[in-house]
Amino acid sequence: MAYLSIRQVSKAFGGPPVVDAVDLEVPQGRFFALLGPSGCGKTTLLRMIAGFETPDSGTIAIDGEVMNAIPPHLRPTNMVFQSYAIFPHLSVFDNIAYGLRKLRLPKNELKARVEAMLATVRLEGLSGRGAGQLSGGQRQRVALARALVRQPKLLLLDEPLAALDKRLREAMQVELRQLQRQVGITFLMVTHDQEEALSLADQVAVMNNGKILQVASPRELYERPNCREVADFIGEINFFHATVKAVDGDRVTVNGGLLGVVALPRANILFDAAVGDALLLAIRPEDIGFADAGLAGTLAASTFLGETTLFQVQVAGRSDPIVVSNYFDPPSKDVHLNFPPDMLIGLPES
Ligand SMILES: Nc1ncnc2c1ncn2[C@@H]1O[C@H](COP(=O)(O)OP(=O)(O)O)[C@@H](O)[C@H]1O
Ligand SMILES: [Mg+2]
Repeated sequence: MAYLSIRQVSKAFGGPPVVDAVDLEVPQGRFFALLGPSGCGKTTLLRMIAGFETPDSGTIAIDGEVMNAIPPHLRPTNMVFQSYAIFPHLSVFDNIAYGLRKLRLPKNELKARVEAMLATVRLEGLSGRGAGQLSGGQRQRVALARALVRQPKLLLLDEPLAALDKRLREAMQVELRQLQRQVGITFLMVTHDQEEALSLADQVAVMNNGKILQVASPRELYERPNCREVADFIGEINFFHATVKAVDGDRVTVNGGLLGVVALPRANILFDAAVGDALLLAIRPEDIGFADAGLAGTLAASTFLGETTLFQVQVAGRSDPIVVSNYFDPPSKDVHLNFPPDMLIGLPES
């Protein structure tokens, strides 16, 4: 059952909608990511869930209760902002306690809750330190602790790690993942970083131009993107224009242009294709092999990535190079490429 349920929510700021008829179901107790390029409406959607922004239309329900008319402080949500606003003149303890002051808890209970939270985010020793004297990662942990100490049912995180450098960001990703498992609270995290979304989340919604394009597990998004935009946004991928020639049983035969006539599993065609339909064949760089025969091309460039190397292969009759990833360099600059039919997926052309 969905814990957060968004139905047909739209929002415009005088111009075209920046959130456009969004439907979204977020299950309870999971780590859910909302992934999309900058400006696609992620923050606006998050702010509507938190109650800082009002939808023009549609409903937002949490745990079965419609939230549209409920003010932010009465919603079971808390938000960690992109520029995590902690108070530099307050101690770590007081920053975390800040969220609890309004609840007027007995002093010892307040102390116990703050201390438990300090332990959760591993800041026990820094309770008395001024928040201005913390590193970026520590500040971010204070911001998380302050949001979590009020025991929200749904934690909204708006690009929480974007301000950190790469090393720290990766370390904090692991911590965030562990923290979510430990507290069991539903996390809804906004990010424009596809690696971050894929590595952290149980489920990812891909958003562009105010619309949700696909909601799926990280693996499914990578292996079975439902459209060109999602395929393009999630990692490297190669596209080929093709036409459906025949559909028989569990195979679909397509005329794949440079790839020739290929029969791929029907399950790899991610839309309802009929004979004569145009489609896009898509294949990931790691699924293309160097071979003795096959599509002939010339190595135009290579990028060493440590474990693998990314090769750009130029082929006659196509302007974009084909991107191939492999552990080994091919023996010569003249190569042949092999496209295993089972690794090709078929997407709608439009
Ligand atoms: N309060 C606002 N007034 C006018 N335009 C806004 C406002 N908030 C956001 N926008 C516009 O809405 C679009 C989506 O913004 P935002 O939700 O912040 O995107 P994202 O978080 O995905 O980068 C942008 O074009 C942005 O300029
Ligand atoms: Mg944003």
